[in-house]
Amino acid sequence: MSALRVPLVAGNWKMHFDHLQATYFVQKLSWLLRDAHFNFSDAEIAIMPPFTAIRSVQVLVHSDRMHIKIGAQNVSSLSEGAFTGDVSAEMLQKLDCSYVIIGHSERRKYHPEDDANVVDKVRATLAAGMKPILCVGESFEERRQGIELDYAVGQVRDVIRDLSDKQAENMLVAYEPVWAIGKGNSATAQDAQDAAAAIRGLFARTYGERVAQKVRVLYGGSANASNAVYLMQGPDVDGFLVGGASLDPLEFSKMIRLVALVARKRRKNAQASEEESTH
Ligand code: PGA
Repeated sequence: MSALRVPLVAGNWKMHFDHLQATYFVQKLSWLLRDAHFNFSDAEIAIMPPFTAIRSVQVLVHSDRMHIKIGAQNVSSLSEGAFTGDVSAEMLQKLDCSYVIIGHSERRKYHPEDDANVVDKVRATLAAGMKPILCVGESFEERRQGIELDYAVGQVRDVIRDLSDKQAENMLVAYEPVWAIGKGNSATAQDAQDAAAAIRGLFARTYGERVAQKVRVLYGGSANASNAVYLMQGPDVDGFLVGGASLDPLEFSKMIRLVALVARKRRKNAQASEEESTH
């Protein structure tokens, strides 16, 4: 079934690159992929620049008709008003953002971003017609206690509770164990698959199997071109939210191509088993 979900490789640039560096990067990435005859229907690509670079990337992507989606790293839950420093979902949607990262562990740690806040941001993002990438994942302490799956699933449960079916299927969840982010050591393929399957199971129990099979679950935490194929061994892992490895166009383009390769293989296997079952 995963064969029917197009994987997403999303670069979370965090606080890197001004608008000039950002446009240079996107041009280089696009050139590298075209040079490799990349088939853009195999995998979706998204870049999440800092707010200051979104407009420049948008203009470039449009003028060169690139198959690269744009996302934001945060959003306000409110639509307008006296909220110094905040950016609304409507503003991001007008910049053609398709995705918004919500509840990243760095925002939960350095900003007053709690579960209630995350719910409101998810709702604001969906209402503006964009897709939230909800970040969840345990710290080292929960893993030590062996409660990592309950913890991650619990973080998702609180947020998706009262969504409509349509809203639920537009959700993406990034399982990002906090201990693996920016450390150079990813989780294992089994960890990634177990968490992705548990999160999909929650969607199935809440909204039914049809919706659950549409939700994309990403893995994040030291994912790169060397471990991408390994981390996608499990059928429920639908791509990556990438930090460090998304800052190097060569590394990032390599990773995107490998994810596309996995997607093609999954599609072939699904077709083969379908043909087998009809004989
Ligand atoms: P990393 O970051 O790939 O550098 O570990 C991932 C993230 O924070 O989304």
